[in-house]
Amino acid sequence: MSHFVPWPYPRLLAHRGGGTLAPENTIAGIEAGRRYGFRAIECDAMLAADGVPVLMHDSTLDRTTDGRGPVAARTSAELARVDAGRWRGPEFAGTAVPTLAEAIRHCRRHGIWMNIEIKPSGAEAEQDTGATVARVAADAYADCLRAEGDRAQSVVVAAPLLSSFSERALAAARAAAPGLPRGLLVEAIPSDWQERLQALGAVALHCDHRRLTEAEARRVKSAGYWLFCYTVNDPQRVRDLFAWGVDALCTDRIDLVRPEP
Ligand code: G3P
Ligand code: MG
Repeated sequence: MSHFVPWPYPRLLAHRGGGTLAPENTIAGIEAGRRYGFRAIECDAMLAADGVPVLMHDSTLDRTTDGRGPVAARTSAELARVDAGRWRGPEFAGTAVPTLAEAIRHCRRHGIWMNIEIKPSGAEAEQDTGATVARVAADAYADCLRAEGDRAQSVVVAAPLLSSFSERALAAARAAAPGLPRGLLVEAIPSDWQERLQALGAVALHCDHRRLTEAEARRVKSAGYWLFCYTVNDPQRVRDLFAWGVDALCTDRIDLVRPEP
């Protein structure tokens, strides 16, 4: 599907909620982004043992919480009791792992737009994670979704864009919530990117900016797709990517890469 509709969302997103200035994938992180003027975030959503999506990047608790072991072995209630803030600094102690539904409620209350990355904890969880994250997001935005919202022409600006490195997860998301738009995440852009996007009914390609060339950016844009880059921490690089036609990007350095006031 090519569409030629201008990117309708904010162009600068705080990566994992608040970049590296706050604990990632937490409400405290989203609040840090908000204090720096961000009106949009990228976050990662993974399934807990009870099938509830929570905000989490790694498949284990070890790096970002005071817990240990696989995220998928804990229920969302158990995850709400681990400390996901202290590792980032004592001022964040007591920060919980939020459910995706809680994070969406917080973002909607404050007018924060979301790019929700579907992050399966392993290959066996790809379909379930894609379907469940999409269903939870679609339910939370049911009041403003349109049946054809996954087509760029009829996209709902308030509703989230789902993305994933997992094509199985994206296919399951499409089946579960056909009204939510989707983007395919890649590192370098593969030669068959357009076929892959078409097969998934995706409207956006999300790539690692370090692997992107200007010629590739222009090809994606002239085919009519949205182009998103992660994770850009240098303001000059941001300007260069926007000059290449990149629509939007996320940053860890919410203090250096600032949205327009
Ligand atoms: O969605 C863009 C970016 O978050 C992808 O990489 O590993 O930070 O989730 P990662
Ligand atoms: Mg991510």
